[in-house]
Amino acid sequence: MRFFQRKVFAVMAVSALLCLCASCAKESEAPEIPETETKETSVAEFNFETKTVRLNSGYEMPILGLGTYALEHDTCVNSVKTLLKNGGRLIDTAYMYGNEDAVGQGVREAMEEYGIPREEIFVITKIYPSQFHDPRGAIDTALEKLDIGYIDMMLLHHPGTGDTEAYKVMEEYVREGKIHSLGLSNWYVEELTDFLPQVTITPALVQNEIHPYYQERDVVPFIQEKGIVVQCWYPLGGRGYTKELLGNETITDIAKAHGVSSAQVILRWDLQRGIVVIPGSSSEAHIKENLDLFGFELSDEEMKRIEGLDRNEKHDWY
Ligand SMILES: NC(=O)c1ccc[n+]([C@@H]2O[C@H](COP(=O)([O-])OP(=O)(O)OC[C@H]3O[C@@H](n4cnc5c(N)ncnc54)[C@H](OP(=O)(O)O)[C@@H]3O)[C@@H](O)[C@H]2O)c1
Repeated sequence: MRFFQRKVFAVMAVSALLCLCASCAKESEAPEIPETETKETSVAEFNFETKTVRLNSGYEMPILGLGTYALEHDTCVNSVKTLLKNGGRLIDTAYMYGNEDAVGQGVREAMEEYGIPREEIFVITKIYPSQFHDPRGAIDTALEKLDIGYIDMMLLHHPGTGDTEAYKVMEEYVREGKIHSLGLSNWYVEELTDFLPQVTITPALVQNEIHPYYQERDVVPFIQEKGIVVQCWYPLGGRGYTKELLGNETITDIAKAHGVSSAQVILRWDLQRGIVVIPGSSSEAHIKENLDLFGFELSDEEMKRIEGLDRNEKHDWY
């Protein structure tokens, strides 16, 4: 009898120890957020020291990085590696860009060559409306092409038929740990108002077109006040428009006053509005320049001057 009691006690002790170890391991992998389904409503603050923001999902995301739209395979691998080598840690890709495999390759090579831990790197990808009928297939394909273990953040690329259902499947992948955070792209006030009550995990981020000629001054605070981070695409106006925007007299004036480039002024203006930047580039010099945004600050007056450039001029249809 006593032997039996001792045995039961030993089994219980070992089980307790195992539980403790498992919970320790879990804590070191995921951030300390009690529930993923948190409804954070305060505006997320950017930390200019760590160059990160804490998302409502509990994960830290860098506030500046690299966009990879239009970057073909080798160029994309090189840009990703250049970013990571120079301290950048955030990369945006999408099924639609056809370069998730190149982004994954760039990340894996940079981890190996430069000794960067996976947890420091934050990769965003997106599923396209044409994939909404088979979200599991779409997510599994992205995981396979990227081949970096897990996806830091997955977005619905556009509103479309089956978007809510696709998002709910993404929520399941979050619970399984295969995706860390969720978000939306090209969602505005009306679309968000309709979408948010239908889902369990509040999106951590919305990615929309924003640049000095298209500032979304009504949409940005609407999103931010819900505790959702805003990220901009076409920060420099997008290909075909950058020359004019970077040559704008107000921007070049401000750039001259700080001894920086026009691109740096625009990207810094975004950061000071609490907007995450992912400029696209295939140039080492530009990638380095776009990471160098913390040695100067725009005054309130300069921020206002750039605000005055808004023309409600969209550079793409969505
Ligand atoms: N969710 C969506 O629907 C959506 C739509 C569009 C884009 N995006 C994302 O947003 C990212 C950013 O947009 P984007 O890449 O299309 O446009 P962008 O960042 O506004 O502009 C990219 C262009 O700017 C040039 N550039 C970059 N840095 C520069 C600098 N410091 N000085 C001068 N020129 C510079 C690049 O040329 P070089 O190669 O010579 O540097 C490239 O031609 C995309 O890459 C993509 O990840 C998302």
